[in-house]
Amino acid sequence: MGIDEKSKILIFGASGYLGKYLIKASISMGHPTYAYVRPVKSDSTDPSKLQLLKDFESIGVTVYQGELDEHEKLVLVLKEVDVVISALAVPQHLDQLKIISAMKEAGNIKRFVPSEYGNEVDRVRGALPPFQKLLDNKKKIRRATEEAGISFTYVSANTFAAYFIDLLLHPHHPSDEVTLYGDGKPKAVFNYEEDIAVYTLKAATDPRVANRVIIYRPPKNIISQLDLVAAWEHKTGRTIKRKHVPEQEIITLSQNLPFPDNIPVAILHNMFIAGTQVSFELTDNDLEASKLYPEHNYTSVDDLLNRCLVDPPKTKLAAFA
Ligand SMILES: NC(=O)c1ccc[n+]([C@@H]2O[C@H](COP(=O)([O-])OP(=O)(O)OC[C@H]3O[C@@H](n4cnc5c(N)ncnc54)[C@H](OP(=O)(O)O)[C@@H]3O)[C@@H](O)[C@H]2O)c1
Repeated sequence: MGIDEKSKILIFGASGYLGKYLIKASISMGHPTYAYVRPVKSDSTDPSKLQLLKDFESIGVTVYQGELDEHEKLVLVLKEVDVVISALAVPQHLDQLKIISAMKEAGNIKRFVPSEYGNEVDRVRGALPPFQKLLDNKKKIRRATEEAGISFTYVSANTFAAYFIDLLLHPHHPSDEVTLYGDGKPKAVFNYEEDIAVYTLKAATDPRVANRVIIYRPPKNIISQLDLVAAWEHKTGRTIKRKHVPEQEIITLSQNLPFPDNIPVAILHNMFIAGTQVSFELTDNDLEASKLYPEHNYTSVDDLLNRCLVDPPKTKLAAFA
């Protein structure tokens, strides 16, 4: 059987921030959807995760509980499905080697999407060392996938829009001051998480994206921090003070903060100061999501800011606010 809109999708990291969006997209697109999650005991101290797994089942998701090093169990589960999408957290990126090894043994997986969803791994330049290490892990997973002969799709989703708009503008607790990184002029690509999930499901089951990188760079989502704040000022009618963190301060923090706290500052540097997301031109050989899927009416940054005025999307940050 080929790969198509009826493909069975297995998601790793389904209970996570992006994972929940992927589950929703997969179900709403009509795919038989499976999640492989770490076991939760019935007397678990994390009742919210138990409830989440129940919610998954109630919308039709088949939930398998297991550890990534339960190789035989993993192989059996993989034999049930066609496509594997991973949204494992950063510290677990190298654990995807266990999934690759199990996929190789199962022998039936038609597409693997490893957990990336950021800057284009093989084209990022000027990353500070803590971010470079993260990129190197993503590269290791790319090369191991290719070596195992597994068909892949690599996703460069650029910036998670709801998450970073929350960080920069804090729409849940509007304030008259914002913190910007560097001079605020370089542009980044802010893609709403819901669209990232939909594009990923489409790409993972699209023969045109087999063994290719796909880049999410919709034209209405390319914006600098300064323009983002100006747009927010215009919509809210507030005057907002810009506090700039100088580049050198970010570099010093990335050198002095202990692991893993040094990673987020190094990512902020690459995204907002080095501006690497749009530092390379897309050519006719590149696959760009909004061009490939024009039928999908994506949420522009402007739409998302309008939504933030009335009902900002919940993000990881908002969860702790
Ligand atoms: N471009 C951007 O702006 C941006 C922003 C955020 C994240 N990302 C990327 O998106 C991907 C997903 O990130 P996320 O923030 O959605 O991840 P997350 O919510 O932090 O975690 C995802 C899942 O990883 C699994 N996990 C966590 N700790 C684990 C452990 N100790 N052992 C085994 N599994 C563990 C959990 O799955 P189970 O418990 O269900 O097994 C969890 O639900 C990552 O590749 C990240 O780099 C990109």
